[in-house]
Amino acid sequence: MHAFFNDLGRDVLNLWKPENFSLAKFPQIACAALDKRSPAKHVDLSALMRDFLLSEEHPSQTDSDFGEPELVVYSHPRFYIQLLFWLDGTTEIHQHEFSGAFHVMQGSSIHAHYEFHKAQSITPFLRIGDVRIKDIELLKSGRTVPIFSGQRDIHSLFHLESPSVTVVVRTQHDPGTGPQYNYMPPHIAIDPHFSDQLTLRRKQLLDVLERVEDASYAGLVMEMIADLDFERGFSMLHHSMGYLQQLDQWEPALKAFEKKHGKIAAGVAATLKEDVRRTVIKSWRSTIVEPEHRFFLALLMNAPTRADLLALVAQRFPKEKPFAVVLRWIEELTDVSDEGVTILDCSFPETIEVDDQTKPELLKSAFQHFMKPGKKLPPVLRDLSAVDVKELREAFAESALSLLTV
Ligand SMILES: [Fe+2]
Repeated sequence: MHAFFNDLGRDVLNLWKPENFSLAKFPQIACAALDKRSPAKHVDLSALMRDFLLSEEHPSQTDSDFGEPELVVYSHPRFYIQLLFWLDGTTEIHQHEFSGAFHVMQGSSIHAHYEFHKAQSITPFLRIGDVRIKDIELLKSGRTVPIFSGQRDIHSLFHLESPSVTVVVRTQHDPGTGPQYNYMPPHIAIDPHFSDQLTLRRKQLLDVLERVEDASYAGLVMEMIADLDFERGFSMLHHSMGYLQQLDQWEPALKAFEKKHGKIAAGVAATLKEDVRRTVIKSWRSTIVEPEHRFFLALLMNAPTRADLLALVAQRFPKEKPFAVVLRWIEELTDVSDEGVTILDCSFPETIEVDDQTKPELLKSAFQHFMKPGKKLPPVLRDLSAVDVKELREAFAESALSLLTV
């Protein structure tokens, strides 16, 4: 076992045992132990990885797929210490059935806290309510953050460097604080650990019909939605959304669900729309590896307003103007290919007839204008018709950059 984590574990035990393993005191104890013996300052990651690969003396490992991977480096019947590696991963918005603290050992992360208002349980595994962001901050290497169990501590992390490594000192389990809901903003919470095998197999069977392009797909989903309860109907709607949209059958399916479930279905359309937006941004993480660009993605995904986004840019780049930093990223993320000109998921509209060579400049200038509008159009946009400018505005409004353009 790695000596550093053995010492850290002993420190935690020596502080917690005299408190009779009080769950209420554990977050504070875990924070104090991590701050006193900071892993960011004292752990050589290469040596630790070598030790883990070559030594035979390690605590029992879990089969959790939360980290990429998760290593258990200290274990006691009442608590354990884990190392979480993050490559492309970002966490869902979630709460915990355990408590303790986490410490950023390598890399940095965008950390967002949320609240869940007007919670209403529809089944033991699904709730509806209002997911609202409480605060968002940049966590740099060396930072320690307490973890509280239950609904008081709902959060998400978006890791900027690859790999990022966090150390978690956590209880085994805090009784009575489950389920460990995942939150789909703005309105749904789901227990991700509940497994409904029949629903899983039904989704897989629908995938078979999709793969073979069976003409009965949309009709069958519609019949299922008309018959199923809210939780399983929502799960089916979520699963089928992409293909139903391709088939131009999404709106009737959504309407059928809303008609069947009435008032409690009011937040479903917005939740599924937001889920698609977040999934698209997450998918870019496998190709966008530059930490500054990942920082931008994290802000686009999590910042509630343009002002919050710019404030976080100013916090990370205090010597530069936040508008200028965003424009630099837009310049770097502008992609020109045979397919056209794009900035992330905003494409230059095909309906605007201009010379191909001017398109990148037009798209960037349009972004700059919509982000910080002056009274006059910039010179490069003045040759376009009002309809063309409207098209450009709509292209940004429908993209992940909509938060920044008005
Ligand atoms: Fe967490």
